[in-house]
Amino acid sequence: MKEQLEKIRQLAEKELTECGAADVLENLRVKYLGKKGELTAILKQMGQLSAEERPVIGQLANDVRRTIEEKITERAEILRTEFAARKLKEETIDVTLPGKKQNVGKLHPLTVTLNDVKEIFLGMGFEVVEGPEVETDHYCFEALNMPKHHPARDTQDTFYINDNVVLRTQTSSVQIRTMEKKKPPIRIISPGRVYRSDAVDATHSPIFHQIEGLVIDKGITMADLNGTLELLMKRLYGEDCKIRLRPHHFPYTEPSAEVDIMCFNCHGEGCPMCKNEGYIEVLGAGMVHPKVLEGCGIDPEVYSGFAFGIGLERITMGRYEINDLRLLYENDMRFLGQF
Ligand code: DAH
Repeated sequence: MKEQLEKIRQLAEKELTECGAADVLENLRVKYLGKKGELTAILKQMGQLSAEERPVIGQLANDVRRTIEEKITERAEILRTEFAARKLKEETIDVTLPGKKQNVGKLHPLTVTLNDVKEIFLGMGFEVVEGPEVETDHYCFEALNMPKHHPARDTQDTFYINDNVVLRTQTSSVQIRTMEKKKPPIRIISPGRVYRSDAVDATHSPIFHQIEGLVIDKGITMADLNGTLELLMKRLYGEDCKIRLRPHHFPYTEPSAEVDIMCFNCHGEGCPMCKNEGYIEVLGAGMVHPKVLEGCGIDPEVYSGFAFGIGLERITMGRYEINDLRLLYENDMRFLGQF
């Protein structure tokens, strides 16, 4: 029995020393010290020993057990240290390497300008509303006092879906949709895409953006229109910005005006940017035509109002001194990154 115990001790020491993984170590522990382990098997035979032999063998068995236990603890400690060292090595980060640059996006200049315009109008108590880009002839033309064959239609050639449905050429359609739904007082702006059958050049695009404005209440006059637009332009272009209204004609306003802003480049002196005019046209406006009000069920004897349509591209180009409309749509990062 003594020899058996010594053999177990030797073999266990050898196996434990060679053991290189935690799960193998656990198997060895079960093999030697477990309930069905080799040491236990020997201790079960103790009963067969004589009274003198028993304490000697018992002592030895305890010795062997302690040796194996110590060896296991020692080995486990070594394996843990090795594992930690290996992991540390595998996961080393070289903090001196240059990082990966994260490109941060920014808003498109058209979006920046639109956000600013919205902010200014919200501050004056306006509401922002939307209208459909695919529109009926009725809302885009007819209800705006532009019956079929009206010459004003020719200036806004559109993409027809069918005889009755068009891609809207102007956000003025939202005026009608709003007045049909809401009772005065009305104070809205409506930004959005518009479409025209135009060839692309530095100042034209078949798709562009407008911001429509509409105010209807009792006692609204041209002075209110002037004051509102002046405030808008001063906020957008600086306090020294001046506007001027030139008589014009739109079928849905009477009187009508085209609105110019003082050239931000030459401050009214005349330069290539404003084609020597000193002023640059930015929008159309006027007092809502009584026929249009009537058509929407609003009594023109009681209510009056003004409307305007701003070209978003145009005021953006003015703000950032962009001289070619196409730059706004090409999405060239070298261009967009400047704003
Ligand atoms: N719809 C016009 C255009 O596209 C702009 C315009 C002019 C809008 C006068 C208006 C307005 O609301 O009253 O050129």
